[in-house]
Amino acid sequence: MTFSFTHLTSALALAAGLAVAPLMANAADSEGIVVYNAQHETLTQAWADGFTKETGIKVTIRNGSDMQFANQIIEEGAASPADVFLTENSPGMTLVDASKLFAPVDADTLAQVPETFRAADGDWVGVAARSTVFAYDKTKLKESDLPKSLLDLADPSWKGRWGAAPAGADFQAIVSALLELKGEDVTKSWLKALKENATPYKGNSVAMKAVNAGEIEGAVIYHYYWFGDQAKTAENSKNVALHYFKNQDPGAFVSISGGGVLASSQHKKEAQAFLKWITGKGGQAVLRDGDSYEYAVGNGAQSNPKLVPLADLQAPKVEPSKLNSKKVTDLMTEAGLI
Ligand SMILES: [Fe+2]
Repeated sequence: MTFSFTHLTSALALAAGLAVAPLMANAADSEGIVVYNAQHETLTQAWADGFTKETGIKVTIRNGSDMQFANQIIEEGAASPADVFLTENSPGMTLVDASKLFAPVDADTLAQVPETFRAADGDWVGVAARSTVFAYDKTKLKESDLPKSLLDLADPSWKGRWGAAPAGADFQAIVSALLELKGEDVTKSWLKALKENATPYKGNSVAMKAVNAGEIEGAVIYHYYWFGDQAKTAENSKNVALHYFKNQDPGAFVSISGGGVLASSQHKKEAQAFLKWITGKGGQAVLRDGDSYEYAVGNGAQSNPKLVPLADLQAPKVEPSKLNSKKVTDLMTEAGLI
């Protein structure tokens, strides 16, 4: 593809009587960066468009999921074609970081994001955040019927009444926070109860749809699925309201989407510039003004005013680089959930 394109442009240039050399130089410049993207495609596309418009640096996006790309990067090692890795949740970042495959994030980029939203070692940085919620059927449940804690959903009284998407990175990040906050025994018994009480769905949207359709009374998902649907037709959420657990409960976990530059990148300057842009004014404004409904995390950055402010969520304190995805998948496999 690249060769034929180059040949074609060269031929066209010759035909037009132009010098070939500047065109070749442009072709090299336009190589740009490759992003392994596990974030929502529309959000990363909006970031890439904004960045390219401002810098002229081309961004090629490859889409996949957190763990799929984390494992791929580890497999590819120094030969990885990726320059940047973006996730939905931090466990994927931790996995790559543990294999020492990230270059340190530039200090001025780190300075744009509060410490709580980035890796302690400075090898990746938060780019957005999402809150765990209990999306419930407001035609069936009153506020007094709602679980006070995520752990309450393990109670036999909740049997057959709720759902989740256990196979996804989103839900597994919530479990990793539970593990970090409450330890292995509590997590094990909660997962056992989840297996008994909850209906598994393929993805957060499907779980929310099931609540809306009256199949289940509630689902543990992330907040933005509801806001996104409400902003469109509300057809999958008109009967649904969001319950925020707050009170530093494991169910009030705020998960961090991460960004990192690969140590093997041949375009580190451009890759670092991209991370700086998405964590800076331009990139964070995309979160405020766009339709992702994810939280902005940059210093002083505003989230969409429709959201419950990040500061009001009373999220538990969790060190994002400690979230252990391997242990979580082991425990969930043991519980027969994945
Ligand atoms: Fe998502």
